[in-house]
Amino acid sequence: MSKSNGHANGHANGHANGKSTNTRASAPGMNGNAYPITDHEFDVVVVGAGGAGLRAALGAAEAGLKTACVTKVFPTRSHTVAAQGGVAAALGNMGPDDWKWHMYDTVKGADWLGDQDSIEYLCRNAPAAVYELEHYGVPFSRTEDGKIYQRPFGGMTTEFGEGPPAQRTCAAADRTGHAMLHTLYGQALRHNTEFFIEYFAIDLLMDAEGACHGVVALNLDDGTLHTFRAQKTILATGGYGRAYFSCTSAHTCTGDGNAMVLRAGLPLQDMEFVQFHPTGIYGAGVLITEGARGEGGYLTNSEGERFMERYAPHAKDLASRDVVSRSMTIEIREGRGVGKDGDHIYLHLDHLDPKILAERLPGITENAKVFAGVDLRRQPIPVIPTVHYNMGGIPTNYHGEVLTKANGDPDKVVPGLMAVGEAACVSVHGANRLGSNSLIDLVVFGRAAGLRCIETVEKGAKLPRLSSDATDLALSRLDRLRHADGNMTTAALRGRMQRVMQTNCAVFRDGPVLDEGVAKISEIWKDTEDIKVTDRSLIWNTDLVETLEYDNLIAQAVVTVVSAANRKESRGAHAREDYSKRDDVNWMVHTLAFADDRAKSIELDTRPVHTKTLTNEVKYIEPKARVY
Ligand code: FUM
Repeated sequence: MSKSNGHANGHANGHANGKSTNTRASAPGMNGNAYPITDHEFDVVVVGAGGAGLRAALGAAEAGLKTACVTKVFPTRSHTVAAQGGVAAALGNMGPDDWKWHMYDTVKGADWLGDQDSIEYLCRNAPAAVYELEHYGVPFSRTEDGKIYQRPFGGMTTEFGEGPPAQRTCAAADRTGHAMLHTLYGQALRHNTEFFIEYFAIDLLMDAEGACHGVVALNLDDGTLHTFRAQKTILATGGYGRAYFSCTSAHTCTGDGNAMVLRAGLPLQDMEFVQFHPTGIYGAGVLITEGARGEGGYLTNSEGERFMERYAPHAKDLASRDVVSRSMTIEIREGRGVGKDGDHIYLHLDHLDPKILAERLPGITENAKVFAGVDLRRQPIPVIPTVHYNMGGIPTNYHGEVLTKANGDPDKVVPGLMAVGEAACVSVHGANRLGSNSLIDLVVFGRAAGLRCIETVEKGAKLPRLSSDATDLALSRLDRLRHADGNMTTAALRGRMQRVMQTNCAVFRDGPVLDEGVAKISEIWKDTEDIKVTDRSLIWNTDLVETLEYDNLIAQAVVTVVSAANRKESRGAHAREDYSKRDDVNWMVHTLAFADDRAKSIELDTRPVHTKTLTNEVKYIEPKARVY
């Protein structure tokens, strides 16, 4: 049972969780319903318990800040658990490596849309972050001489792209995310983070000046409502892969924090950049790690050809993900796909030593059997590019502070609000993330957010009183959806949204397809006003929770397609057939998207890419052609 961790879960007056709790009744909602609310006060509240959220929470808690972690799933079920191949850091355990080479690869992988100060911060701090994980207890795979085992991953090279592939991705077999998540949860508990498990965050508590003071959440288990007030609120709510029909993301990946930010009138950044992982299992969408190709796996078409040699003569199957996904799509389009419908590609591991497979890739060996019915020691795995990661998200600086554009300042910090992990766009991944740079992003920037809290949060400081309407946004949304009595079910609307995203905002894009996507997704957004919820209860109401999640997804889906239609160039994962070149003169800028849920309209703006590095130790890496 979810609450068996021995931590108080905050039901009413006088609990030890939070500095003070108090139960009161809300103002009547639009249906005349008043909701009893329990108030909690903390120094820091983290929403989400994946790798980034746990690392941020433990950093704040370790420093003695009263820290809450509010999560809709049990922490060890957060989507980080599904990360397979590894965590990138230039340790140099398997050959020469340098964090500056890692930085070069990340800037190039990002197709020059990443902020170079943040990328320097990431790559410079990556080795220490991995050693910290090791000391926390992550059971990394080992080399013969006991060092952390590292495998090659796509786009990771040596000598600033001129040398052979780097073995930079630190692995715990092919269950690295699982190992990290369990270890970080243990550490967060050890430092007395207070967990509020199976609490669904509905909306932020914002004041009239635009500062954040916490979050309102629904306890799924007993239907009670809670405010979590804090000096800093850290959103670590993950990506929104479930806006698509086929993705490697868990069903819980609905970008709840991103949507809360949009409803607070703040922008999301670079949402057009959606990563397709080359090797999702055909049909099931389940991930087959890039580590499989790192260990020597390769792709073939219906002619048995190792076609990546044509598209990326040097890196071949270990080119970056956008390049491999596009190459696979071209092979399928040109009639060289495999299977009876010629609509997928084969991934071969059948030539590898079964001992290596058992030792380094046991998880995918099992997944291939369960989800594709193949014994990968003898048969190829049917794979297809599958939505995997959102490069875009909540704009932040490298401290994890949320940014907006106001009064001409493109880097204005939103007081009280922070974001980390896939929810954030810091932006180290720019237009395309390199494999294994996600797990390192979680821990480096989770740690950075904890450090920022230590610098900026006063232990136990009295929190400002909230205005009487501070919870209105959250409660009116909850009440409206709970009593929604329209004609369209959540499942039907969600299905329509997922199909439009899959068809109209895919690996390859062009003007007419995107414009059709904008029209269709906007219509679904409008139709959402006519949604129907059948179950009106508050206790374990999955109908209501799925509706809140769908409501979060649709806003992000609209923002994604509108941003994609607007960007008239090709860069990283955004590959337009009508604008096939990167255009640094006009488009080396971040997209900012603001959404007005009532008017059902989107406003776009831009923010400059940070071209300054953090220190003089490295120079700005000038844009050039991106070939592998
Ligand atoms: O392929 C993988 O193991 C995924 C890694 C990542 O997305 O970083």
